[in-house]
Amino acid sequence: MLKIVRHDATEPKRNGNGNGLGGNGNMAEHEIRGYQVLEKVGTGARSVIYKVREKKTGHLLAIKRVRRSSTYGDKFLRHVKSEFASGQVLQDPRGTEAFHPNIVMMHRLRANRRWLKVDSYDLIMDYIEGKNLDEQNHYTPPEFVRIFLQVSKALRYIHARNMVHADIKPNNIIVSSNGKATLIDFGFSCRAGTRLSSIKGTRDYIAPEQVDGGIVDERTDIYNLGAAMYKLLAGRPLPALIPEVNGDAHFIAAQKVAAVPLHKLRPDIPRSFADLIMKCCEKDPAKRPQSILEVISVLEAVQVSFEQAKQAAAS
Ligand SMILES: Nc1ncnc2c1ncn2[C@@H]1O[C@H](COP(=O)(O)OP(=O)(O)O)[C@@H](O)[C@H]1O
Ligand SMILES: [Mg+2]
Repeated sequence: MLKIVRHDATEPKRNGNGNGLGGNGNMAEHEIRGYQVLEKVGTGARSVIYKVREKKTGHLLAIKRVRRSSTYGDKFLRHVKSEFASGQVLQDPRGTEAFHPNIVMMHRLRANRRWLKVDSYDLIMDYIEGKNLDEQNHYTPPEFVRIFLQVSKALRYIHARNMVHADIKPNNIIVSSNGKATLIDFGFSCRAGTRLSSIKGTRDYIAPEQVDGGIVDERTDIYNLGAAMYKLLAGRPLPALIPEVNGDAHFIAAQKVAAVPLHKLRPDIPRSFADLIMKCCEKDPAKRPQSILEVISVLEAVQVSFEQAKQAAAS
């Protein structure tokens, strides 16, 4: 049986208290060499994320600190190393091309050692102002289309480099106050065509091939994106492909429940939009859009129809 590696039990979230530093952190956590810690902006099963100011330059940045775990050993350290390595592939080391505006820029990975042994890593990246889509999701359908288009274009960039994000979900998309969407968290990212050796994903968004040790490719991102769009627009997730608590990884085989078509739950949104989302969520990768380009062209057509409806209403 495959091992379930997922982090929905302790879903990353932001701190809602006054100083943002959280009540359970110890002071040492807030002293990051070379950086002034301003706020704790997120916590995950694997990490704590701080908003910091680089002392030397005054730049605002974010640091994802990942520690060696007493339960999981260096597994999370390996994840963050692989996250940074994916960032390096995406960021085009030759510097011939501008980095994609809708993907978080990762700057460096610093190892913190105790008695010569790596005890934690600091992943230093751009700080993204805004809220993730779990924290704030009260957008109108045209606003959602604008957000999903930006995420799809980030995916087009990733797929063109033969990579897969493999963890598209609302809390890995930050939307700024001006409506700009940024894709974060490349912890599960890998080369297209990778066969998974463990289940990696989050319950509401995981694709069948991420459950049963299948091959992950661009259609996996299309499913994860579809599942995220479904949840955000329907207000409820697709029927689960994995059980609530870690258990039989072959649960999916017994899972025959079909999702309620989105057009039935949201008759107010264009049918082409609802149908696109359902197509992205097909269990069989061969029935999904085969490329993110197809998703982008439908979303662009939906965007045009919203603009035309707005103009017609104004005249
Ligand atoms: N660069 C960043 N700028 C601002 N907020 C961030 C940044 N990176 C992460 N966060 C916040 O922290 C949360 C958890 O970060 P994430 O990288 O997804 O951690 P994990 O790998 O544990 O899932 C995110 O959902 C987001 O709200
Ligand atoms: Mg995350």
